[in-house]
Amino acid sequence: MSPLLQFLLLFLLSLLCFSHDCDAQVPVFACDVGANPSLAALPFCNATLDPLSRAKDLVSRLTLAEKISFMGHKTVDTPRLGIPAYNWWSEALHGVSFVGGGSHFSGLVPGATSFPQVLLTAASFNVSLFELIGEVVSTEARAMHNVGHAGLTFWSPNINIFRDPRWGRGQETPGEDPILTSKYAVAFVAGLQRNRHDPQKLKVAACCKHYTAYDVDNWKGVSRFTFNAIVTEQDMADTFQPPFKYCVTKGAAACAMCSYNKVNGKPTCGDPDLLSGVIRGQWNLNGYIVTDCDSVDVMYNAQRYTKTPEEAVALSLKSGLDLNCGTFVVEHAQNAISQGKLLEADVDKAITNTFKVLMRVGFFDGDPRKVGPYGGLGPKDICTPSNKQLALEAAHQGIVLLKNQDNILPLSPGSFSMAVIGPNAKATVTMLGNYNGLPCLYVSPLDGLSATVKTIYAPGCDYVTCNATSLHLEPAKAAAAQADVTVLVVGSDYTVEVEGLDRETLLFPGLQGQLIDEVTAASKGPVILVMMSGGPFDISAQLANPKIKGILWIGIPGQSGGQALADVIFGRYNPSKYLYIYTQSFCSFRYMHADNPSLTLSSLYTFSGGKSPFTWYHESFVQNVPMTDMRMRPDPATGYPGRTFRFYTGKPLFKFGHGLSYTKFTHLQVRAPRTLSLGLGEEHPCYSGNCNSISLASATERCAEMSFDVRLQVHNSGDMAGSHTVLLFNKPPRLHNAPKEQLVAFEKIFLEPGQRSSVAFCLDVCKDLSVADENGNWRVPLGSHVLSVGDLEHTFTLTVYSCPRLGPQPPTPLSDASFLSNPRGSPPKERRFDRD
Ligand SMILES: *[C@@H]1O[C@H](CO)[C@@H](O)[C@H](O)[C@H]1NC(C)=O
Ligand SMILES: *[C@@H]1O[C@H](CO)[C@@H](O)[C@H](O)[C@H]1NC(C)=O
Ligand SMILES: *[C@@H]1O[C@H](CO)[C@@H](O)[C@H](O)[C@H]1NC(C)=O
Repeated sequence: MSPLLQFLLLFLLSLLCFSHDCDAQVPVFACDVGANPSLAALPFCNATLDPLSRAKDLVSRLTLAEKISFMGHKTVDTPRLGIPAYNWWSEALHGVSFVGGGSHFSGLVPGATSFPQVLLTAASFNVSLFELIGEVVSTEARAMHNVGHAGLTFWSPNINIFRDPRWGRGQETPGEDPILTSKYAVAFVAGLQRNRHDPQKLKVAACCKHYTAYDVDNWKGVSRFTFNAIVTEQDMADTFQPPFKYCVTKGAAACAMCSYNKVNGKPTCGDPDLLSGVIRGQWNLNGYIVTDCDSVDVMYNAQRYTKTPEEAVALSLKSGLDLNCGTFVVEHAQNAISQGKLLEADVDKAITNTFKVLMRVGFFDGDPRKVGPYGGLGPKDICTPSNKQLALEAAHQGIVLLKNQDNILPLSPGSFSMAVIGPNAKATVTMLGNYNGLPCLYVSPLDGLSATVKTIYAPGCDYVTCNATSLHLEPAKAAAAQADVTVLVVGSDYTVEVEGLDRETLLFPGLQGQLIDEVTAASKGPVILVMMSGGPFDISAQLANPKIKGILWIGIPGQSGGQALADVIFGRYNPSKYLYIYTQSFCSFRYMHADNPSLTLSSLYTFSGGKSPFTWYHESFVQNVPMTDMRMRPDPATGYPGRTFRFYTGKPLFKFGHGLSYTKFTHLQVRAPRTLSLGLGEEHPCYSGNCNSISLASATERCAEMSFDVRLQVHNSGDMAGSHTVLLFNKPPRLHNAPKEQLVAFEKIFLEPGQRSSVAFCLDVCKDLSVADENGNWRVPLGSHVLSVGDLEHTFTLTVYSCPRLGPQPPTPLSDASFLSNPRGSPPKERRFDRD
């Protein structure tokens, strides 16, 4: 977006601000004791009391009509109790957004740091980065809140599994793997919510969405509002539910959002098993459940699931809903109560949950500028140099190198000319993706590249949809024929893939394929193909084209995406001065590692090692597999190939986790047990050893708390520094229709040329080796498991042994006795976990 456009947008936004004062410089908060001293005596305004007592006190003071008014996302003010109107709906998927209206921009806060879209950040496989981004976003949110520009409740992150490459919202998610998605959820939520000054309180409240099995938006006439996802218990247990489980349990997120779709015939927002049973019951949510906007209305009007609006309201509240994004519940709750379908107690329960969260974020503590740890934050803390640097770094860390023939990349800067061609070469707002706000700045690919070399620009197509009218081949071919190097920046934008719009093909949109072919044929020098997109394309033709020497996927890279692209193309990387602390846990001990914040690189070039968080399929996949088929597992009887690297039986273009590097990393050796034995008491049905798998519920009961180390060395045997993600997969025995392999752990490390480092993973037998059976129950499969990292494999056998019914725990059978070094390497001489 040009500065002029941005100005115009701000102007328009300010005209739209009739419902609240957009130029407000004061925060919205309750219990303003300064203005109304009588409030001080009310227990709900007493910050020393616990959130639940305060919420209950507040509820006890409200009339039924007032209570109902708190059930929609836009509450009205209740002056007699000193409570102003509040908009629950703010978004911060990859930076504070204007979506929802709870947060907005103005002349006072013209922008906030806009990080890469989540899919690219996930490609960094850097858990510390996920958390740091969350932390910076929540700091900017708090700064905006202090000047009346942001709420305190954010409906982020989106942690649905990117199950099908066509999904328009895949860009918003951390990809197709439940473990990566879960780790992202936990880290990002921690970054958003963690209040370092008071663990009982929240910096801001995050929300895990969209619960659950929601990942069809609008495909060939199938709409998310009426889609009925048919999901097996098994897929539910090991694919769709884990991210939500981790987000709520380990991430302690203060909110979960139920989705629009139905799961096995029931709308998620009206399913007591999914809401009260699982989220609040099994996972013990400390927070609120909100609808997608406006799921209760959808349940009645679009799905015709209930006969009356009142029934829809009653069903959702009785199922465990606490807050309705929209007005439907507020409009119909009174009638539902009059008709006896709903009780006032149901309303009390719901608003107690929401008030409790508002207590925890400090909304009822008075002026946030005067109380609490974030009082000093303001516009000066938004778009700071270090925040902008982190957005740049995140894009850099995620970029995936898919082809690098003749080591064409990185290019050494010099006096050559570069043709920069393609509909995304001058991308600005396209670099932000769904759920954006206004950024601090834009650095388009053309801006980024032009800062280093002489460029000749020709768009080739005016739009990504690239039809015959918008295609301008000749100037693009002329530019490529003239320049020493050609960089083609192609891909998609929100006219191709976005919320409410799924793709129907993995081929490049419109005539972009022709543009690529013809420009490449005309080019004088090598071609580097850059894809800016929220998902994969079928790039088999481009991989086979010998003139296309380099291929990069840059996701939707955020405000500084073009700078990150240029830095990757030229091999530059300036790690930030952020103190990077991560905990690594081994079975024997835990330690903290603080990276040298002033890391200096000994070599000129470096690559930060993004890896694809999704599978790259051929076009035939989408032509043969309906997007609406939710099954993860293949069905040999019908030729259904299954989905994602865990199940897909076809040969993909690239597997999940694929990504080349400018340097060469070798995995030197594996040190892991050869056999593992699970202890069972004599009452256990598998005690005598005649089972092929053990139910996790029974195995964890006693003498089975087992963990073990897997250790290996990574060597940077190339001549450039770089970061590398070690992905540890396990192939379980083929029992219970288990995944053919699953990601069990990963760790990202940085290595100088020639440097070696030890990496160790502590695996938990029950947690990391188990699989969900056909009924969705977790079981530990006995027999042969194969661990793999890169091209290293290590096979071990899992068996059972009998342990006594009573008496002390037997010593773990995992003493050093059964370690085996992989035949391809020799065991490390000593156990060291720091860098060599
Ligand atoms: C707030 O609650 C605490 C703990 O019950 C109590 O000691 C204190 O007096 C209360 N403050 C006010 C202003 O009522
Ligand atoms: C190409 O797209 C533009 C803009 O979307 C449209 O106005 C035009 O009619 C299209 N041309 C053709 C040949 O389809
Ligand atoms: C992970 O991200 C942090 C923050 O950007 C960075 O300091 C660190 O170097 C990254 N780790 C690796 C191994 O690249």
